[in-house]
Amino acid sequence: MTPLKILVLHGPNLNLLGRREPEIYGSITLDQVNAALEARAAKLGAVIDSFQSNHEGELIDCIQTASALYQGILINPAAFTHYSYALREALAAAGLSLVEVHLSNIFAREAFRSHSVVSPVAAGVICGFGINSYLLGLEALVQVIGVGGK
Ligand code: DQA
Repeated sequence: MTPLKILVLHGPNLNLLGRREPEIYGSITLDQVNAALEARAAKLGAVIDSFQSNHEGELIDCIQTASALYQGILINPAAFTHYSYALREALAAAGLSLVEVHLSNIFAREAFRSHSVVSPVAAGVICGFGINSYLLGLEALVQVIGVGGK
């Protein structure tokens, strides 16, 4: 069977994982997150490509090419979660199954983090479980794609 192709997107400052506020985000690096996702994807019959950028436009350019190449997107939009209408609209236009994840529990932190402009165009959101947010998000995304959902 042809494996599902999933695009994993990481927003700004996530390249600093492991060094960035480890009391909030833990000590795991972005390379380790991607390696764990690759391993989980293989078990689920999927393959992932991952991309991190600190630049809104680069993420949007990547999303615009995704429709032809992938069945779904797993995204941690990082700070763009809270204000990037441009990112949200690119994700909506892509028309792919979408799951939003966050390492931290965004509802237990500063008030500005409690609002996501991305969530309304996602099938669902998983947050607060560290690296497991990504792994659970990938599992959910594969299921959503399997039932033909967005
Ligand atoms: C984050 C939460 C966001 O509020 C923050 O801006 C991030 C990381 C998370 O994974 O917990 O950069 O998306």
